[in-house]
Amino acid sequence: MNNLFYLSKLRVYFSFVILLAVLIFLVGCGKTEDAQPQVDSPYVVAANQIEAGRYIAIIGGCNDCHTEGYLQSEGKVPEEDWLAGSMLGWQGEWGTTYPSNLRLRVQELTEEEWVLVVHERTDLPPMPWMNINQMSEQDAKALYHYIKSLGPKGKHVPDALDPGVEPKTPYLSLIPKNLPQK
Ligand code: HEC
Repeated sequence: MNNLFYLSKLRVYFSFVILLAVLIFLVGCGKTEDAQPQVDSPYVVAANQIEAGRYIAIIGGCNDCHTEGYLQSEGKVPEEDWLAGSMLGWQGEWGTTYPSNLRLRVQELTEEEWVLVVHERTDLPPMPWMNINQMSEQDAKALYHYIKSLGPKGKHVPDALDPGVEPKTPYLSLIPKNLPQK
């Protein structure tokens, strides 16, 4: 009698376990279709890291300043000339700055050092440091490998000039004009 009671309890128990397993399986099946990857911060997913870096360079607007003639030609600069720096200065109240030759910079920095520059450096305008400081580690690494894949090219750009020093190169003025009176 005791044994029988024990057996029927066991049967109920097993039916419950099987039901639970079926339920977990069904929930799992439903999820796989629109599953999102679990990420801590957003980053670009592409066929490979270099393709991701290329996409970030374009969408991030890095060529606009770091590629000679890119803005003026609406992007009609061959890729082999991308990101080799620009001799067109950007002048404002900070003086005059030249967009660095990133093709040479990546040769000088390890991947780790590059990520640190992207995350922590805050320097002169118009480099949008406040934006790129927020780039995810994956994207910073992808950019590094993309720029490195282009190989070294060109020369280093001139050092930044102090306010009041007249540049010898062409430059753009970012001094605001016609501001409303306070
Ligand atoms: C509006 C123009 C502009 C844009 C857009 C821009 N940069 Fe810059 N960047 C500059 C200038 C100018 C400097 C030099 C600043 C200085 O002298 O302190 C600079 C400096 C840098 C440096 C420091 C290099 C060194 O010499 O150590 C890095 C790295 C860099 N930029 C990466 C990027 C990346 C990556 C992007 C795109 C996501 C980008 N920049 C977009 C203008 C720009």
